Amino acid sequence: MRTGITFDDVLLVPRRSDVLPDEVDVHTQLTPHIRLNVPMVSAAMDTVTEARMAIAMAVEGGVGVIHRYLPPEEQAEEVRRVKRYESGVIKDPFTLTLDEPVWKALQLMREKHISGVPIVDAQGRLEGLITRRDLQFQADLDEPISQVMTPREKLITAPVDIDLEKAKEILHEHRIEKLPLVDVNFKLQGLITIKDISKASEHPHACKDERGQLIVGAAVGTLLDLKREELLLEAEVDFFVVDTAHGHSKRVLEKVRLLKRAFPEIDVMAGNVATSQATLDLIDAGADAIKVGIGPGAICTTRVIAGIGVPQLTAILDCAQAAEDAGIPITADGGIRSSGEIVKALAAGASSVMLGGLLAGAEEAPGELFTLRGETYKTYRGMGSVSAMKSAQDQERRYFWDQTKEPIAEGVEGRVKYRGKLADVLYQLIGGLKVGMGYVGAPDLATLRETAEFIQITHASVIESHPHDVHITKEAPNYRFEDRAS
Ligand code: XMP
Repeated sequence: MRTGITFDDVLLVPRRSDVLPDEVDVHTQLTPHIRLNVPMVSAAMDTVTEARMAIAMAVEGGVGVIHRYLPPEEQAEEVRRVKRYESGVIKDPFTLTLDEPVWKALQLMREKHISGVPIVDAQGRLEGLITRRDLQFQADLDEPISQVMTPREKLITAPVDIDLEKAKEILHEHRIEKLPLVDVNFKLQGLITIKDISKASEHPHACKDERGQLIVGAAVGTLLDLKREELLLEAEVDFFVVDTAHGHSKRVLEKVRLLKRAFPEIDVMAGNVATSQATLDLIDAGADAIKVGIGPGAICTTRVIAGIGVPQLTAILDCAQAAEDAGIPITADGGIRSSGEIVKALAAGASSVMLGGLLAGAEEAPGELFTLRGETYKTYRGMGSVSAMKSAQDQERRYFWDQTKEPIAEGVEGRVKYRGKLADVLYQLIGGLKVGMGYVGAPDLATLRETAEFIQITHASVIESHPHDVHITKEAPNYRFEDRAS
């Protein structure tokens, strides 16, 4: 019998290095046609990836996979939102109406950290704009907005398809900070602000398609009617992920074959699997990328309730080796708790990592934000948890056992600490990855993979690896109290 190992069972041995962490290149192939500038993918879960997360991921150089626990039309709309996103342009600005009181505008600006709000009528036509400046000396906060705002006759607006350079010129020429975008009927279609334009130029690593739109993936199940897929393609999705708990099964193999036959131009990632044979079979069926991980996830109970799984590092090593000859990339999905484990997964042969729990605390994750005993959290739940299974709109996901009984769950519901903006979370993770590459002298991920030397360690070493014999009084942004070894 073999022994399986996971991230905590190994360390990477340092090597002579001629590269500094800030010099390393972390670009990778997610699939043969999709290149990422950062090897990170946000998980296809309803508390991790919808449009907002996918936009933030792609802007930072990674990518998001929109989960499939939504009706097909809604999932396609999430994809469309990502594809329509243009940094610098707010497509759905917050708005208020003419007769609302001034205090509402102040409240909205405070809550959403914005400095101005377009005012619209019931049909969504632009009537005016209210900014912080208009409210500076306002004493009566119950006065209607219409009395205080800049009315439409005095507003500078632009057509919805204006390009950013031209918009910049207009903002500059009129010395204004906000430019509402309208259609021929004067319906509000977006807003360009000076702040967002300057932020847009700060994202040179964004992952975009050849038309300059952000890259996004969508999870699909094993239904063979392809209605969901057609809608996703209409929304211009870049790749599919056949997202299942057991990728080495007849239905998944059939679905991969069908997708490749129906849409040969679209890359298909398939999973999840944990063995070489499963990897080979999926590749044989036409998969362009393989997702690896059975039961390692933070919210997974598959290994406990079914007794099934392969420790994640062994799974990555086995699947990556099997996929190597075919040149098919693999994504390590689940169980990653720190940047060090990202380094280990990539060194073991993964081309990218999929992250759930590590990103669920980001502001852009759809999970609910709440406070408990003075700490701020976001909800994070397994897609095989009781609540997710019961609320799933996707018929396929509805439980196939007795519907009147509690489902046989394979995951739990929980919470993770709120971690602020995704960009800051990723900054720490990418930074840690680059530090790791610096220690082994790898200027890029291919070299990391080729030259990595793992050393297997004992439980005593795991304890030694973490802070010990000290009472931690302050968390670091990349090391929390709960990260301690137990
Ligand atoms: P992490 O550890 O990053 O894992 O939070 C995220 C991955 O976990 C998988 N997943 C599940 N696995 N039961 C499982 O056994 C579940 O309910 C469940 N929900 C998600 C999935 O692969 C995800 O990307």
